[in-house]
Amino acid sequence: MRVLEKINPEIVESLNLFKDWVFRPEIQESLRGEISKNKYELYDGGQSEASTSLEYLSSLDHKRHDGYPPELRGLDLNYDTVKKLDHGFDDAFVNEIRDINFKTDSLLQIYLGAKISALKAFYPEQGYIAWHTNWNAPGYNIIFTYSPTGSGYWRHIDPTNATSITPTPENMVHISDTPGWHCKVGYFGSQTETNKLVWHSAYTNEPRVTLAYLIYEENIWKDIVKEIEEA
Ligand SMILES: [Fe+2]
Repeated sequence: MRVLEKINPEIVESLNLFKDWVFRPEIQESLRGEISKNKYELYDGGQSEASTSLEYLSSLDHKRHDGYPPELRGLDLNYDTVKKLDHGFDDAFVNEIRDINFKTDSLLQIYLGAKISALKAFYPEQGYIAWHTNWNAPGYNIIFTYSPTGSGYWRHIDPTNATSITPTPENMVHISDTPGWHCKVGYFGSQTETNKLVWHSAYTNEPRVTLAYLIYEENIWKDIVKEIEEA
């Protein structure tokens, strides 16, 4: 997992299109209304950080893990996900989500090429995504995260030399968010690739946006990473 602190300004402009939409007051109202129905909303104070703790990670049934986060306080606004899940959004708002997905992906396509948009997440304050692997969808990841002041974090278990799917707590890496956009890039392996299998989680004290893209070809991914770093 590598962190790119500087992102090509043209890419930032495209990312901002999505972020600025998410932070529009009327959009926030709809998103927060939906999040408030989420059962994980019940957590308060420090309890919302439980799902990014090592205790939580150890308590999971690693063999039965399906790749998806067991808990999440936030919303995935990826259009395909919104279509699949039974949200309380009305048709007009679902259309808005489709439009902003299309605009954002079209703009980023210039830089990212053929790619799968894996996630477009909005997290409110005290939002989180619990430990998981995405091992159901192995590939090269490009993860853009926006945080207003950087009061949030990402955690993963470095899998180098791992010979089992059970995560080693001593190998946890904690990466603080930074103000504005930053980008994380890395390969997340399948269940059989124990030394490339990345258990990860994230938490935020403030509203946070994450856009993730999945690429299957290493060479294409390397070119994209170069493009992102071009200032
Ligand atoms: Fe993930």
